[in-house]
Amino acid sequence: MVISKICCIGAGYVGGPTCSVMALKCPNICVTVVDRSAERIAQWNSDKLPIYEPGLDDVVKKCRNVNLFFSTDVETAIREADLIFISVNTPTKTFGNGKGRAADLKYVESAARLIAEIAQSNKIVVEKSTVPVRAAESIMHILRANQKPGIRYDILSNPEFLAEGTAVDDLLHPDRVLIGGEETSEGHQALEKLSWVYQHWIPKENIITTNTWSSELSKLAANAFLAQRISSINSLSAVCEATGADVSEVARAVGLDSRIGSKFLQASVGFGGSCFQKDILNLVYICEGLNLPQVAEYWQQVIHMNEYQKTRFSQKIIECLFNTVSDKRISIFGFAFKKNTGDTRETPAITVCKTLLEEGAKLDIYDPKVEPEQIIDDLTHPCVTDSPEDVKKAVQIHSDPYSAVRGTHAIVLCTEWDEFIGLDYKRIFQSMMKPAYIFDGRKILDHDHLQQIGFHVQTIGKKLNRSSGLLRSWGSIPQL
Ligand code: NAD
Ligand code: UDX
Repeated sequence: MVISKICCIGAGYVGGPTCSVMALKCPNICVTVVDRSAERIAQWNSDKLPIYEPGLDDVVKKCRNVNLFFSTDVETAIREADLIFISVNTPTKTFGNGKGRAADLKYVESAARLIAEIAQSNKIVVEKSTVPVRAAESIMHILRANQKPGIRYDILSNPEFLAEGTAVDDLLHPDRVLIGGEETSEGHQALEKLSWVYQHWIPKENIITTNTWSSELSKLAANAFLAQRISSINSLSAVCEATGADVSEVARAVGLDSRIGSKFLQASVGFGGSCFQKDILNLVYICEGLNLPQVAEYWQQVIHMNEYQKTRFSQKIIECLFNTVSDKRISIFGFAFKKNTGDTRETPAITVCKTLLEEGAKLDIYDPKVEPEQIIDDLTHPCVTDSPEDVKKAVQIHSDPYSAVRGTHAIVLCTEWDEFIGLDYKRIFQSMMKPAYIFDGRKILDHDHLQQIGFHVQTIGKKLNRSSGLLRSWGSIPQL
């Protein structure tokens, strides 16, 4: 069997870009991405895609309605496909057993049940979603318990390593593609077929194969390692602020050791995004279930450190603004969890805004890509506030950074958008209340230049001597 038709269940941040690039690189394969959300599918079929990813519009335009289709007709797509990706969301459970830690597999299970119900021919079913170790066993169990005579299912694990904001490039040039399969001759055949699809554009030596459980665990491990590096450098940023060391210098010196490497050592307000926290919590939960409490505790600390960093940064803002932000207007630059995406899932900006709102501040928020409704949804969520109407009154969303700073006391930079570097800060300074503060949570601005203009500047992992005589340390109470 050659793969000629692929179906992907889940048209999200992973399913959409992954299948678009697959269609681009495999003109001989027909790829259909399905979702139960008619709204999302309509957006994929429109000029304004549901997600912002640099380069994605071009890829979609080239393939859509040629060999790439977005549809709500899940049944037809499943029935016709040789290979089906399950690319649905696997959020942290919000109820019941494992609440707040375990991955909720209800969407994976519903996708497996759909396949079992609809399939009338052999299918290779590929776990693309990030799942706990041995999730493939549950999928197989559902499929085989509902198996129709003469139909064969093979299950593969093929986790996705793309990062948002660079998804197209990551998909075109991945460091590796990982495929896990059953260690049987049928398992190997299925694995070879998926490998053949990737070989349309990825060198064979970059496609690595393992058993299913190693593949599933490798995805959790990769995210845990990446997040751990950020928490490690962020922990040292606190030491830098207390001692006069500069975390950027430390990261450079440490990262030049080829055994350590320089990537993912950028100290920040904290990591966000839909994956790191969810996947580490899931790993912690799995370890507890395996009676490995020390291992669970070890990885849990990566999350604790991230929470500490977000809180530390938020508290610093309040302390520097004379310990009160009540009725002060504060500009928030950037709401997305990183640059080049409109995604706000677990963005550190939510923690910062929540803290400031609780202290009575009024917020003027600007982000180049996040939709205003999304910001309001995030800040009025029951986890953030119990008085959504008050939040709506206290928050103003702007479509331009210069209007977001007019008459405000401080700018808090939460996302490292390139455009924030090139703004006219003299003009900004003139339109702000004095003293005017900048809190650079991403370390991207020219702090010397800002200080020359007259700003009081605070950042992560570096004591800026000339920032203000009042600001000795994060813990001290400034005096007027
Ligand atoms: P997402 O929420 O953006 O998209 C998931 C989509 O699946 C939604 O549109 C939802 O409507 C759809 N869906 C759920 N159940 C369905 C069903 N039964 N039938 C049809 N459609 C269904 O999620 P995402 O960010 O694309 O993540 C998907 C998976 O990939 C997760 O497991 C995630 O951990 C993993 N992952 C995400 C990223 C990332 O950067 N976002 C990177 C690597 C891996
Ligand atoms: C991550 C993984 O990188 C990717 O391989 C996986 O498939 C999904 O999860 P993503 O969350 O999209 O990707 O973005 P990433 O670039 O990893 O950034 C995550 C968060 O860490 C962002 O908030 C980012 O700003 C922050 N970060 C990243 C830092 O604070 N410092 C760094 O050095 C790197």
